[in-house]
Amino acid sequence: MRVTVTVHINIQCGALDNGLMLTPPMGWLAWERYRCDIDCENDPKNCISEKLFMDMADRLSEDGWKELGYVYVNIDDCWSSMQRDKDGRLQADPKRFPGGIKKLANYLHERDLKLGIYGDMGTHTCGGYPGTTLDKIELDAQTFADWEVDMFKFDGCYSNSTEQEKGYPLMSKALNATGRPIGYSCSWPAYQGGLPPKVNYTQLGEICNLWRNYGDIEDSWDSVIAIVDWFFENQEVLIPAAGPGRWNDPDMLIIGDFGLSLEQSRSQMALWAIMAAPLFMSNDLRTLSSSARAILQNKMIISINQDPLGIQGQRIVKEKSGIQIFWRPLSKNTSALLFFSRRSDMPYRYKTSLSKLNYTTGSYKVTDVYTYETTVLKDSSEFVVSVNPSGVVMWYVSAPAKLNSRLYFRGGHVQDFANEDNNNDIPYLL
Ligand code: GLA
Repeated sequence: MRVTVTVHINIQCGALDNGLMLTPPMGWLAWERYRCDIDCENDPKNCISEKLFMDMADRLSEDGWKELGYVYVNIDDCWSSMQRDKDGRLQADPKRFPGGIKKLANYLHERDLKLGIYGDMGTHTCGGYPGTTLDKIELDAQTFADWEVDMFKFDGCYSNSTEQEKGYPLMSKALNATGRPIGYSCSWPAYQGGLPPKVNYTQLGEICNLWRNYGDIEDSWDSVIAIVDWFFENQEVLIPAAGPGRWNDPDMLIIGDFGLSLEQSRSQMALWAIMAAPLFMSNDLRTLSSSARAILQNKMIISINQDPLGIQGQRIVKEKSGIQIFWRPLSKNTSALLFFSRRSDMPYRYKTSLSKLNYTTGSYKVTDVYTYETTVLKDSSEFVVSVNPSGVVMWYVSAPAKLNSRLYFRGGHVQDFANEDNNNDIPYLL
């Protein structure tokens, strides 16, 4: 069964006017892997402390991550003291962050990295730490700016929808008013069910750089699948909401943790690239396996994720067989195609053609982003892709090769090399 989906793409620029995150932000975020581990006595390597964030900063800057765009190191919940200081300001737990947040920010900036921090619109954070009530918004925004923080995630536990309606736009204003560019991640829509009429995506695009639409990712394939299904079931609402400076956030990458097989890890990376999703890894960069590293550092997939047009991709085919196909238009007349298997038996051989997938007449250069194999395919040629259970085949498809008439007619004969491929080169990042 083929499903045709019409999506209206909203090219107008309605993004938060701070000039940040024109492509989806990339980096590392503590929550999924480290949660609220504050037991530094017994678990010094993994507890939420300045050591953990410095370790991750070292890895990002020394192991080839930051050159690929992974520059944010983001603190999540459970970083603060249980009490504000005597002036009413949030303060880091002095035992776990003896240098304070400002020193950590300096450590990151010295390495050309950026620091993200977490707060909560409400009386308490989801983990029970001090929250930011409406009267504290300006003070907390200024505190983060004083610490030279570069990104702020505003969660929404322990507040009602009226408070959230006031608080999320107010925090946006307060962050801007500090004069420091601070990327703003809003959890607001996730607390409102993620869909209109409760969620106003036009407004979100104007006040936030990214937003969580849906529940928290966990370290399991079931969790990844639940997120993916929700995002593509609701693609007609979500695709127009995204664009440069304003991104839907399906939550962290769990590649390199414990819950995903190799195929599933490849699938998460590919699907997040199709969705133009922020790429925040939540894993242990100190002990990452080489296979996880290869997936997370795949330059072709990263360049698809980071495409400057910033158009979120869509599901174009949902077969009864369990094969689903996704497509994302990219700049320079290129695109990404993703074949995804939801089967659990054996590699499935799926037969189709580019014209069946809505490609116009022409011949295309197709590169498999995981194997780097390249072929040229006419729109009408039938081909077969073999997709592993819970795995993907992802292609970078470049524009129909242009016929260069000068070469074509050289010597009065048709030449083999008339297809001028140079314009269609794969956009490596480096
Ligand atoms: C909520 C958020 C998570 C994380 C936790 C922290 O559940 O959605 O991403 O920040 O709170 O307590």
